[in-house]
Amino acid sequence: MPPDTNPRNKKFLVTMALPYANGDIHLGHLLEAVQTDIFVRYQRLRGNHAVYVCADDTHGTPIELSALKRNITPAELIAQAHKDHCRDYAGFNIGFDIFYTTNSEENRTYVELIFENLRKNGLVAEREIGQYYCEHDKRFLPDRFIAGTCPKCKAIKQYGDVCEACGATYEPTDLGDPHCVVCGRQPVMRQSKHFYVQLSKCEQFLRDFIARPGVLQDDMRNFVTTWINEGLREWCVSRDGPYFGFRIPGTENKFFYVWLDAPIGYLSSTDRWCKDNGRRVEEYWSPGSGTRIVHFIGKDIVYFHALFWPVMLKNSNFNLPSTIFVHGFLNIGGEKMSKSRGTFILARDFLSKVKHPQAPEYLRFFFGAKLAPNTADIDFSPDEFTKRVNTTLANNFGNLHHRTFVFCERYFDKKIPEAPWDETIAREVESAAAEIERCYEAAEYKSVVERVHALGNRGNKYYQDNKPWELVKTDPAGAASIMVTCVNLIKAIAVFLKPIVPEICGSVERQLGARFSWNDYRFSLSGKPLLVTEKLVIPLTDEDIAPLFASTASLAAKAEASADDGMIDIAAFKDVDLRVARILSAEKIEKSKKLVKLQVEIGSEHRQILAGIAEHYSPDQLAGKLVIVVANLKPAMLMGQKSEGMLLTAEGPDGKFVLLTPENPMASGARVS
Ligand code: MSP
Ligand code: ZN
Repeated sequence: MPPDTNPRNKKFLVTMALPYANGDIHLGHLLEAVQTDIFVRYQRLRGNHAVYVCADDTHGTPIELSALKRNITPAELIAQAHKDHCRDYAGFNIGFDIFYTTNSEENRTYVELIFENLRKNGLVAEREIGQYYCEHDKRFLPDRFIAGTCPKCKAIKQYGDVCEACGATYEPTDLGDPHCVVCGRQPVMRQSKHFYVQLSKCEQFLRDFIARPGVLQDDMRNFVTTWINEGLREWCVSRDGPYFGFRIPGTENKFFYVWLDAPIGYLSSTDRWCKDNGRRVEEYWSPGSGTRIVHFIGKDIVYFHALFWPVMLKNSNFNLPSTIFVHGFLNIGGEKMSKSRGTFILARDFLSKVKHPQAPEYLRFFFGAKLAPNTADIDFSPDEFTKRVNTTLANNFGNLHHRTFVFCERYFDKKIPEAPWDETIAREVESAAAEIERCYEAAEYKSVVERVHALGNRGNKYYQDNKPWELVKTDPAGAASIMVTCVNLIKAIAVFLKPIVPEICGSVERQLGARFSWNDYRFSLSGKPLLVTEKLVIPLTDEDIAPLFASTASLAAKAEASADDGMIDIAAFKDVDLRVARILSAEKIEKSKKLVKLQVEIGSEHRQILAGIAEHYSPDQLAGKLVIVVANLKPAMLMGQKSEGMLLTAEGPDGKFVLLTPENPMASGARVS
C-alpha cells in the first residue's frame, strides 16, 4: 500500500460482504470479490490509500447445524473454512489486506460496545415472547433450527425465517406443521425474553442517511425508501443458547444474533489490521477521519447494510459508509446457480478443472466486462466467457501487443525506436483516460472495458492502415513512428486494465521495465530497449472450460441420485429414453482431441451427436456400428457444433472407453429398457 502522506490523496476503507464460514466460495462470491478488488486496485493505482478488509462470518445456526452434522465443533468448522476461503480467493488474486474472522476478541468487544450504546440511547426494548422449544434436544428453535410449511405459499420444508420458494419473511411461530430440524419432533411453545432494536425511532436519521448523495444507487435508494415508508419493524437481536456466537453480558444464556455481530466484523477486522500495521482504527472509523468507507454487497443483504448497520454505527459515533455498491446475482447459463442442477460452480473447482494457466485472470476480465453499478443479474455461460476473453484480450489487445513487439524485435534491434509519436492518438488516449477514471470511480467497469476495446481497435486499424511492414523498406523513420505510437498505446491500455487483469499488465510492465501508476497512461516512451518478449494472452478454447461443466453435469446426477441414499425409483429411470442407434458416418473435429462428430440414425430420425471417444475409436471404426444412445438429452453446443444425444460407453480397467452395443443386429430406433 502506498503511503498516504500526500494530503491530496484520498483514504478508503473498502469491504465486501463477509462470506459465511458455513459454505464454500463459489463463482457468485468471486463476482463480488473481483468487483471490490478492482475498485481497491484502481484507487491504489491512483496513489490513494485503500485498505481492503474482509473476514469470515462465523456465527449463527447454520454453522452450528453443519458442525453438528459433521460431528465436529463449530470452532473446527470455521478454522477449516478460513483456510479454504483464503486459498480460494488467493487463486484469483484478491488482494485483501486482512481476511479475518468474526469469532475474534476484537469483534466481541465492539459488539458489546455497540449494543451497550444502543441500549443507553433508549433503542433496545425487552419483551417476553412465545417461542418454539424442542423438549428432546432441550433448546429453543430459532431460524434454521425449525422447519415447516410457509405461511404464504404453503411450500413444505421451509426454515423459520424465510421461505426459499416465495421469498416471504416471517416469524418461526407463523410456520405450519413446525418441527425440529435436529430430531424431527414437534416442538412446544415456551416463553423467552428477547432484545429488540427499535429501528423506527431512527427513522429520520435513516431517511437523511440514504438521501446523502452517492450512498446508494438510485434504484436502491427508492427500494429502501419503500421499506421505510412501510414502517420500520423492531429487530430481534438476541437468541437463546446454545448458540454459536457471543453471549450477551448480564444474561445467563442469551446470545447476540449473528446479523448483529457480522457487519461489526468490518470494524473489528480493521482494528486487527491496524494493530498489526502500526495504525489506529480511528484513522478509518472516526467520523472526522476523512476516510471514505465503501461497502460492496449483493442485493439480498441491503436491508442489513442500509438500515441496521448505519443505526449501529451512528449510535456509537463511528464513521458512516460513504457508498454502498449493490450488485446483482451471478447466474449460470441463464439460471440461478443450483446444487441439484449442478451449476453451483465452486472457486476451487474452477481453479483445478480449468487447466488454462490464465483462467483466473480471464474470469476477472469477464466479470469486469459485465459489471456495472446496478443490480442486474449477470450471466456466466461458457460460450460468452470464451468469446469475451478472446475478442478483447486475445484478438484485440494481445494482437496489437504481439505484432508491435515482434516488429520492434525484428526491425529495430529489440528497441522501441527513437521517433515522434502520433499526436492525434496521444490526444485520443488523453480523453479516454478522463472517461475511464470516471467509470472506475463509479464502479462502471463494463464501460472501462468497452472504452479500452475501442482503443485497441483504433490501434490495430492504425497499424493495418499504415502498413509498417512495407514502410520499413522505403521509409524506416515513418515505420519507427508507427511503432513508437503503438508501444505507447499498449502501455496506456495496460495502465487502464491493470486493476482488472493485474497479471497480464504485469507482464507488459516487465517488458517495458517499469511499474505503472495511473499517470503512466500518458505517451512517454521512445528510444528504449525492450526486455523479454512474453506472449500476453493465450486464447481460451471451449475445451479449456468444458471440464467445469462436465463435472457439474455429473454432480447434478449425483445430487439427484443421492436424494434417497443413492437409490432412484423406476420412474426416474423411465425418464431416460434409451434407444438403439446406427452410426451412419463419423468424422474428426478439428482442434479437439476428444470429440468426434457422428451422424446417427434412430429409426426414421437423423441426428448429429458429438461423442468424447476420439481417443478410443477412429472414425472408420465407428461408421456402421449399432450403439445405445440417450435420445431425450437436451441438445447442447460443443466446440460450436450441435450435439443431440449421448452414446453409452463403459470405461475398461485400462482407462479405454468401450461402446455398448446390442448383442444381435437389429433395427435402429428400438427402445432399451
Ligand atoms: N454472511 C453474510 C454477509 C454478512 S456481511 C456483514 C452473507 N454471506 S453469503 O456467503 O451468503 O454471501 C456473501 C456475499 O456474496 C453477499 O453479498 C451475497 O449477495 C453474495 N452472493 C452470494 N451468492 C451470490 C451469487 N450467486 N451472485 C452474486 N453474489 C452472490 O450473506
Ligand atoms: Zn429436536
